[in-house]
Amino acid sequence: MSGHVDVLTSKLDGFGTTIFAEMSALAVETGAVNLGQGFPDTDGPQEVLEEAIAAIRRGVNQYPPGLGDPDLRRAVAEHQQRWYGLAVDPASQVVITAGATEALAGALLGMLDTGDEVVVFEPMYDSYQAAIALAGARAVPVLLAPDAGGRYVFDPDELRQAVTPRTKLILLNTPHNPTGKVFDADELALVAEVAIDHDLVVVTDEVYEHLLFDGRRHVPIATLPGMFERTLTISSGGKTFHTTGWKIGWMSGAEPLVAAAKTAKQFLTFVNGAPFQPAMAVGLRMPDAYFDSLAATLQTARDRLVDGLGAAGFTAHVPEATYFITVDIRSVDPSGDGMAFCRSLPERCGVVAVPDEVFYVRPEHGRHLVRFACCKRPDVIDEAARRLAAGFASGSPS
Ligand SMILES: Cc1ncc(COP(=O)(O)O)c(C=O)c1O
Repeated sequence: MSGHVDVLTSKLDGFGTTIFAEMSALAVETGAVNLGQGFPDTDGPQEVLEEAIAAIRRGVNQYPPGLGDPDLRRAVAEHQQRWYGLAVDPASQVVITAGATEALAGALLGMLDTGDEVVVFEPMYDSYQAAIALAGARAVPVLLAPDAGGRYVFDPDELRQAVTPRTKLILLNTPHNPTGKVFDADELALVAEVAIDHDLVVVTDEVYEHLLFDGRRHVPIATLPGMFERTLTISSGGKTFHTTGWKIGWMSGAEPLVAAAKTAKQFLTFVNGAPFQPAMAVGLRMPDAYFDSLAATLQTARDRLVDGLGAAGFTAHVPEATYFITVDIRSVDPSGDGMAFCRSLPERCGVVAVPDEVFYVRPEHGRHLVRFACCKRPDVIDEAARRLAAGFASGSPS
Protein backbone atom coordinates (compact mmCIF):
# COMPACT_ATOMS: atom_id res chain seq x y z
CA MET A 1 0.00 0.00 0.00
CA SER A 2 1.30 3.49 -0.81
CA GLY A 3 2.84 5.28 2.11
CA HIS A 4 0.46 8.19 1.45
CA VAL A 5 -2.81 6.38 2.10
CA ASP A 6 -4.04 7.57 5.45
CA VAL A 7 -5.38 4.42 7.06
CA LEU A 8 -4.79 5.21 10.71
CA THR A 9 -7.99 5.33 12.71
CA SER A 10 -8.91 8.87 13.72
CA LYS A 11 -9.05 7.57 17.29
CA LEU A 12 -5.25 7.44 17.15
CA ASP A 13 -4.71 10.85 15.57
CA GLY A 14 -1.57 12.27 17.14
CA PHE A 15 -0.33 8.91 18.45
CA GLY A 16 2.62 8.33 16.09
CA THR A 17 5.68 6.24 16.90
CA THR A 18 6.28 6.20 20.63
CA ILE A 19 9.10 8.33 21.90
CA PHE A 20 10.74 5.19 23.31
CA ALA A 21 11.13 3.66 19.86
CA GLU A 22 12.56 6.92 18.51
CA MET A 23 14.99 7.42 21.38
CA SER A 24 16.10 3.78 21.60
CA ALA A 25 16.82 3.83 17.85
CA LEU A 26 18.89 6.97 18.39
CA ALA A 27 20.74 5.22 21.22
CA VAL A 28 21.66 2.32 18.92
CA GLU A 29 22.65 4.64 16.05
CA THR A 30 24.90 6.80 18.18
CA GLY A 31 26.15 4.23 20.71
CA ALA A 32 24.74 6.41 23.48
CA VAL A 33 24.08 5.23 27.05
CA ASN A 34 20.33 4.58 27.04
CA LEU A 35 18.70 6.06 30.14
CA GLY A 36 15.48 6.55 28.17
CA GLN A 37 13.45 3.38 28.43
CA GLY A 38 12.77 1.92 31.88
CA PHE A 39 14.27 -1.54 31.84
CA PRO A 40 16.97 -2.93 34.12
CA ASP A 41 20.28 -4.16 32.71
CA THR A 42 20.79 -6.98 35.22
CA ASP A 43 18.97 -10.31 35.48
CA GLY A 44 16.34 -11.02 38.09
CA PRO A 45 16.48 -13.88 40.60
CA GLN A 46 17.99 -17.14 39.31
CA GLU A 47 15.13 -19.17 40.83
CA VAL A 48 12.67 -17.29 38.63
CA LEU A 49 14.73 -17.65 35.47
CA GLU A 50 15.38 -21.35 36.14
CA GLU A 51 11.68 -22.03 36.63
CA ALA A 52 10.87 -20.55 33.19
CA ILE A 53 13.52 -22.80 31.60
CA ALA A 54 12.24 -25.82 33.55
CA ALA A 55 8.66 -25.02 32.51
CA ILE A 56 9.62 -24.98 28.84
CA ARG A 57 11.45 -28.29 29.31
CA ARG A 58 8.49 -29.94 30.97
CA GLY A 59 6.24 -28.87 28.12
CA VAL A 60 4.42 -25.79 29.43
CA ASN A 61 4.35 -24.42 25.90
CA GLN A 62 0.69 -24.33 24.86
CA TYR A 63 -2.12 -21.89 25.62
CA PRO A 64 -2.56 -21.52 29.37
CA PRO A 65 -6.11 -21.28 30.78
CA GLY A 66 -7.97 -18.10 29.84
CA LEU A 67 -7.74 -16.65 33.34
CA GLY A 68 -4.08 -17.63 33.59
CA ASP A 69 -2.15 -20.43 35.27
CA PRO A 70 -4.15 -21.35 38.43
CA ASP A 71 -1.01 -21.51 40.55
CA LEU A 72 0.08 -18.03 39.45
CA ARG A 73 -3.40 -16.76 40.28
CA ARG A 74 -2.99 -18.29 43.74
CA ALA A 75 0.43 -16.67 44.04
CA VAL A 76 -1.05 -13.26 43.13
CA ALA A 77 -3.77 -13.74 45.78
CA GLU A 78 -1.17 -14.80 48.38
CA HIS A 79 0.93 -11.76 47.46
CA GLN A 80 -1.99 -9.34 47.95
CA GLN A 81 -2.71 -10.96 51.34
CA ARG A 82 0.91 -11.11 52.47
CA TRP A 83 1.84 -7.51 51.65
CA TYR A 84 -1.44 -5.65 52.01
CA GLY A 85 -3.90 -7.88 53.88
CA LEU A 86 -6.16 -7.91 50.81
CA ALA A 87 -8.24 -11.06 50.37
CA VAL A 88 -8.91 -11.92 46.72
CA ASP A 89 -10.30 -15.18 45.44
CA PRO A 90 -7.83 -16.63 42.91
CA ALA A 91 -10.68 -18.43 41.15
CA SER A 92 -12.80 -15.38 40.32
CA GLN A 93 -10.95 -12.20 41.32
CA VAL A 94 -7.57 -12.58 39.63
CA VAL A 95 -6.74 -12.65 35.91
CA ILE A 96 -3.26 -12.96 34.37
CA THR A 97 -2.52 -10.55 31.50
CA ALA A 98 0.12 -9.68 28.92
CA GLY A 99 1.81 -7.22 31.23
CA ALA A 100 0.13 -4.42 33.10
CA THR A 101 -0.32 -2.72 29.74
CA GLU A 102 -2.83 -5.30 28.56
CA ALA A 103 -4.62 -5.27 31.90
CA LEU A 104 -4.99 -1.49 31.55
CA ALA A 105 -6.21 -1.78 27.97
CA GLY A 106 -8.65 -4.51 29.00
CA ALA A 107 -9.95 -2.42 31.88
CA LEU A 108 -10.41 0.71 29.79
CA LEU A 109 -11.87 -1.03 26.74
CA GLY A 110 -14.02 -3.23 28.93
CA MET A 111 -15.47 -0.45 31.08
CA LEU A 112 -15.67 2.71 28.99
CA ASP A 113 -18.38 3.81 26.58
CA THR A 114 -17.93 6.38 23.81
CA GLY A 115 -17.94 9.85 25.31
CA ASP A 116 -17.10 8.70 28.85
CA GLU A 117 -14.48 10.62 30.76
CA VAL A 118 -11.51 9.32 32.71
CA VAL A 119 -9.93 11.47 35.38
CA VAL A 120 -6.20 10.82 35.26
CA PHE A 121 -3.17 12.45 36.83
CA GLU A 122 -0.70 13.92 34.38
CA PRO A 123 2.05 13.25 33.49
CA MET A 124 1.19 9.59 32.91
CA TYR A 125 2.52 6.34 31.47
CA ASP A 126 2.10 6.72 27.73
CA SER A 127 -0.28 3.82 27.07
CA TYR A 128 -3.05 5.44 29.15
CA GLN A 129 -3.93 8.16 26.69
CA ALA A 130 -3.91 5.78 23.74
CA ALA A 131 -6.08 3.17 25.46
CA ILE A 132 -8.57 5.83 26.58
CA ALA A 133 -8.69 7.14 23.00
CA LEU A 134 -9.21 3.64 21.57
CA ALA A 135 -12.13 3.23 23.94
CA GLY A 136 -13.65 6.40 22.42
CA ALA A 137 -13.41 8.11 25.80
CA ARG A 138 -11.71 11.32 26.92
CA ALA A 139 -8.86 11.82 29.38
CA VAL A 140 -9.48 14.65 31.83
CA PRO A 141 -6.10 15.52 33.35
CA VAL A 142 -5.30 16.60 36.90
CA LEU A 143 -1.85 18.15 37.10
CA LEU A 144 0.92 16.80 39.29
CA ALA A 145 3.45 19.59 39.82
CA PRO A 146 6.33 20.09 42.25
CA ASP A 147 5.61 22.07 45.43
CA ALA A 148 8.15 24.42 47.00
CA GLY A 149 10.04 21.42 48.40
CA GLY A 150 10.15 19.68 45.00
CA ARG A 151 7.55 17.00 45.87
CA TYR A 152 4.94 16.35 43.18
CA VAL A 153 1.47 17.25 44.45
CA PHE A 154 -1.96 18.05 43.01
CA ASP A 155 -4.62 20.59 43.83
CA PRO A 156 -7.54 18.83 45.56
CA ASP A 157 -9.97 21.28 43.96
CA GLU A 158 -8.66 20.46 40.50
CA LEU A 159 -9.37 16.80 41.22
CA ARG A 160 -12.89 17.53 42.47
CA GLN A 161 -13.64 19.81 39.53
CA ALA A 162 -12.37 17.27 37.01
CA VAL A 163 -15.38 15.06 37.75
CA THR A 164 -18.42 15.63 35.53
CA PRO A 165 -21.58 13.61 34.89
CA ARG A 166 -19.63 11.82 32.11
CA THR A 167 -16.86 10.62 34.43
CA LYS A 168 -16.76 6.84 34.65
CA LEU A 169 -13.48 6.18 36.35
CA ILE A 170 -10.34 7.54 37.94
CA LEU A 171 -7.08 6.12 36.66
CA LEU A 172 -4.43 6.14 39.37
CA ASN A 173 -0.77 5.18 39.24
CA THR A 174 1.17 4.86 42.47
CA PRO A 175 4.14 4.71 42.72
CA HIS A 176 4.04 7.04 39.77
CA ASN A 177 5.85 7.08 36.44
CA PRO A 178 7.46 9.46 35.46
CA THR A 179 7.54 11.62 38.61
CA GLY A 180 8.58 8.94 41.13
CA LYS A 181 5.78 10.13 43.38
CA VAL A 182 4.19 7.88 46.00
CA PHE A 183 0.64 9.00 46.74
CA ASP A 184 0.54 9.50 50.52
CA ALA A 185 -2.28 8.59 52.91
CA ASP A 186 -4.05 11.95 52.62
CA GLU A 187 -3.86 11.95 48.83
CA LEU A 188 -5.18 8.40 48.58
CA ALA A 189 -7.97 9.25 51.00
CA LEU A 190 -8.95 12.21 48.84
CA VAL A 191 -9.02 10.13 45.66
CA ALA A 192 -11.12 7.54 47.51
CA GLU A 193 -13.50 10.23 48.78
CA VAL A 194 -14.04 11.63 45.29
CA ALA A 195 -14.57 8.12 43.88
CA ILE A 196 -17.11 7.23 46.56
CA ASP A 197 -18.92 10.59 46.41
CA HIS A 198 -19.40 10.27 42.65
CA ASP A 199 -19.76 6.51 42.50
CA LEU A 200 -16.70 6.06 40.29
CA VAL A 201 -14.50 3.06 39.59
CA VAL A 202 -10.79 3.39 40.35
CA VAL A 203 -8.33 1.57 38.12
CA THR A 204 -4.95 1.58 39.83
CA ASP A 205 -1.62 0.75 38.22
CA GLU A 206 0.83 -0.45 40.88
CA VAL A 207 3.67 -1.93 38.82
CA TYR A 208 6.28 -0.16 40.99
CA GLU A 209 4.77 -1.47 44.25
CA HIS A 210 8.09 -2.96 45.43
CA LEU A 211 10.36 -0.11 44.34
CA LEU A 212 9.86 2.45 47.12
CA PHE A 213 12.75 4.33 48.75
CA ASP A 214 13.70 5.78 52.11
CA GLY A 215 11.56 3.36 54.14
CA ARG A 216 8.26 4.16 52.38
CA ARG A 217 5.59 1.44 52.09
CA HIS A 218 3.19 1.01 49.21
CA VAL A 219 -0.50 1.35 50.09
CA PRO A 220 -2.98 0.01 47.51
CA ILE A 221 -6.05 2.23 47.30
CA ALA A 222 -8.14 -0.98 47.39
CA THR A 223 -7.28 -1.24 51.11
CA LEU A 224 -9.02 2.03 51.99
CA PRO A 225 -12.50 1.83 53.55
CA GLY A 226 -15.21 1.40 50.94
CA MET A 227 -12.74 1.04 48.10
CA PHE A 228 -12.32 -2.68 47.48
CA GLU A 229 -15.62 -3.06 45.67
CA ARG A 230 -14.89 -0.17 43.29
CA THR A 231 -11.17 -0.72 42.63
CA LEU A 232 -9.43 -2.77 39.96
CA THR A 233 -5.79 -3.26 40.98
CA ILE A 234 -3.23 -3.87 38.24
CA SER A 235 0.39 -4.90 38.52
CA SER A 236 3.03 -6.97 36.79
CA GLY A 237 6.27 -8.79 37.41
CA GLY A 238 8.47 -6.99 34.89
CA LYS A 239 9.85 -4.38 37.27
CA THR A 240 9.87 -6.49 40.43
CA PHE A 241 11.73 -9.44 38.91
CA HIS A 242 13.73 -7.69 36.18
CA THR A 243 11.77 -9.50 33.50
CA THR A 244 10.19 -6.63 31.56
CA GLY A 245 10.38 -8.65 28.31
CA TRP A 246 8.22 -11.45 29.69
CA LYS A 247 5.12 -9.25 29.91
CA ILE A 248 3.39 -11.14 32.69
CA GLY A 249 0.91 -8.95 34.53
CA TRP A 250 -2.29 -9.36 36.47
CA MET A 251 -5.42 -7.64 37.65
CA SER A 252 -7.31 -8.32 40.85
CA GLY A 253 -10.32 -6.98 42.65
CA ALA A 254 -14.06 -7.23 42.95
CA GLU A 255 -15.57 -9.74 40.55
CA PRO A 256 -17.68 -7.38 38.37
CA LEU A 257 -14.65 -5.18 37.68
CA VAL A 258 -12.35 -8.10 36.90
CA ALA A 259 -15.08 -9.62 34.70
CA ALA A 260 -15.54 -6.41 32.68
CA ALA A 261 -11.81 -6.03 32.09
CA LYS A 262 -11.43 -9.71 31.28
CA THR A 263 -14.20 -9.54 28.70
CA ALA A 264 -12.11 -7.12 26.63
CA LYS A 265 -8.76 -8.70 27.54
CA GLN A 266 -9.77 -12.11 26.20
CA PHE A 267 -10.07 -10.62 22.70
CA LEU A 268 -6.75 -8.79 22.83
CA THR A 269 -4.25 -11.61 23.40
CA PHE A 270 -6.57 -14.24 24.91
CA VAL A 271 -3.55 -15.59 26.84
CA ASN A 272 0.24 -15.22 26.84
CA GLY A 273 3.58 -16.39 28.16
CA ALA A 274 2.73 -19.93 29.36
CA PRO A 275 6.18 -20.91 30.71
CA PHE A 276 6.73 -17.51 32.28
CA GLN A 277 3.60 -17.82 34.40
CA PRO A 278 4.90 -20.54 36.78
CA ALA A 279 8.18 -18.62 36.94
CA MET A 280 6.33 -15.51 38.05
CA ALA A 281 4.63 -17.54 40.79
CA VAL A 282 8.10 -18.44 42.09
CA GLY A 283 8.97 -14.75 42.06
CA LEU A 284 5.89 -13.63 43.94
CA ARG A 285 6.67 -16.18 46.66
CA MET A 286 10.28 -14.98 47.13
CA PRO A 287 11.21 -14.18 50.74
CA ASP A 288 10.95 -10.62 52.08
CA ALA A 289 14.74 -10.29 51.87
CA TYR A 290 14.53 -10.35 48.07
CA PHE A 291 12.07 -7.47 47.92
CA ASP A 292 14.05 -5.47 50.51
CA SER A 293 17.31 -5.81 48.65
CA LEU A 294 15.64 -4.97 45.33
CA ALA A 295 14.47 -1.61 46.68
CA ALA A 296 17.76 -0.97 48.50
CA THR A 297 19.82 -1.59 45.36
CA LEU A 298 17.61 0.69 43.31
CA GLN A 299 17.75 3.38 45.97
CA THR A 300 21.55 3.34 45.74
CA ALA A 301 21.26 3.67 41.96
CA ARG A 302 18.85 6.57 42.39
CA ASP A 303 21.25 8.36 44.69
CA ARG A 304 24.11 7.76 42.28
CA LEU A 305 22.24 9.21 39.33
CA VAL A 306 20.75 12.12 41.32
CA ASP A 307 24.30 13.05 42.35
CA GLY A 308 25.56 12.69 38.78
CA LEU A 309 22.76 14.80 37.37
CA GLY A 310 23.34 17.42 40.05
CA ALA A 311 27.06 17.52 39.29
CA ALA A 312 26.24 18.09 35.61
CA GLY A 313 24.13 21.09 36.57
CA PHE A 314 20.59 19.70 36.35
CA THR A 315 17.90 20.33 38.94
CA ALA A 316 16.69 16.83 39.82
CA HIS A 317 13.39 16.00 41.52
CA VAL A 318 14.44 13.23 43.90
CA PRO A 319 11.98 10.37 43.32
CA GLU A 320 10.28 8.59 46.22
CA ALA A 321 10.06 5.36 44.20
CA THR A 322 10.28 3.83 40.69
CA TYR A 323 12.97 3.68 38.03
CA PHE A 324 12.87 7.35 37.08
CA ILE A 325 14.37 10.74 37.87
CA THR A 326 12.83 13.83 36.34
CA VAL A 327 15.01 16.89 35.88
CA ASP A 328 14.29 20.50 35.02
CA ILE A 329 16.65 21.26 32.13
CA ARG A 330 16.38 25.03 32.32
CA SER A 331 19.48 25.26 34.51
CA VAL A 332 21.59 23.84 31.65
CA ASP A 333 19.46 24.78 28.65
CA PRO A 334 17.67 28.13 28.89
CA SER A 335 15.41 27.26 25.92
CA GLY A 336 13.67 24.75 28.21
CA ASP A 337 12.68 22.68 25.18
CA GLY A 338 12.89 19.10 26.46
CA MET A 339 11.99 17.52 23.13
CA ALA A 340 14.78 19.31 21.23
CA PHE A 341 17.12 18.67 24.14
CA CYS A 342 16.49 14.90 24.07
CA ARG A 343 16.81 14.73 20.29
CA SER A 344 20.24 16.38 20.45
CA LEU A 345 21.51 14.71 23.64
CA PRO A 346 22.87 11.49 22.05
CA GLU A 347 25.00 13.45 19.53
CA ARG A 348 25.95 16.05 22.03
CA CYS A 349 27.16 13.85 24.84
CA GLY A 350 26.23 10.23 24.18
CA VAL A 351 23.28 9.83 26.55
CA VAL A 352 19.61 9.12 25.83
CA ALA A 353 16.76 10.49 27.96
CA VAL A 354 13.04 11.00 27.34
CA PRO A 355 11.17 14.32 27.17
CA ASP A 356 8.42 14.40 29.78
CA GLU A 357 6.05 16.37 27.53
CA VAL A 358 4.96 13.10 25.88
CA PHE A 359 3.47 12.04 29.22
CA TYR A 360 1.09 15.00 29.40
CA VAL A 361 -2.33 15.68 27.91
CA ARG A 362 -1.26 19.35 28.04
CA PRO A 363 2.38 19.06 26.89
CA GLU A 364 3.22 22.64 27.86
CA HIS A 365 3.28 21.56 31.51
CA GLY A 366 6.15 19.17 30.85
CA ARG A 367 8.06 21.05 28.19
CA HIS A 368 11.09 21.80 30.40
CA LEU A 369 11.24 18.36 32.02
CA VAL A 370 13.28 15.33 31.01
CA ARG A 371 13.25 11.81 32.44
CA PHE A 372 16.31 9.66 33.10
CA ALA A 373 16.08 5.98 34.14
CA CYS A 374 18.24 4.95 37.11
CA CYS A 375 17.55 1.18 36.92
CA LYS A 376 21.02 0.52 35.50
CA ARG A 377 24.33 -0.91 36.70
CA PRO A 378 26.57 1.46 38.70
CA ASP A 379 29.19 1.55 35.93
CA VAL A 380 26.52 2.51 33.37
CA ILE A 381 25.21 5.30 35.61
CA ASP A 382 28.74 6.54 36.25
CA GLU A 383 29.52 6.60 32.54
CA ALA A 384 26.30 8.52 31.79
CA ALA A 385 27.08 10.95 34.62
CA ARG A 386 30.62 11.44 33.31
CA ARG A 387 29.33 12.19 29.81
CA LEU A 388 26.67 14.59 31.07
CA ALA A 389 29.20 16.41 33.23
CA ALA A 390 31.56 16.69 30.26
CA GLY A 391 28.71 18.05 28.14
CA PHE A 392 27.14 20.43 30.59
CA ALA A 393 29.01 21.04 33.83
CA SER A 394 31.28 23.64 32.19
CA GLY A 395 28.18 25.83 32.01
CA SER A 396 28.68 26.50 28.31
CA PRO A 397 25.73 25.07 26.42
CA SER A 398 26.88 24.45 22.85
C1 LIG B 1 3.22 3.08 35.18
C2 LIG B 1 3.47 1.91 34.29
N1 LIG B 1 2.48 1.03 34.06
C3 LIG B 1 2.67 -0.03 33.27
C4 LIG B 1 3.89 -0.26 32.66
C5 LIG B 1 4.04 -1.44 31.77
O1 LIG B 1 4.01 -2.61 32.46
P1 LIG B 1 4.11 -3.98 31.65
O2 LIG B 1 5.46 -4.04 31.02
O3 LIG B 1 3.88 -5.00 32.69
O4 LIG B 1 3.03 -3.95 30.62
C6 LIG B 1 4.93 0.62 32.86
C7 LIG B 1 6.23 0.40 32.18
O5 LIG B 1 7.05 1.25 32.07
C8 LIG B 1 4.72 1.73 33.69
O6 LIG B 1 5.69 2.62 33.91
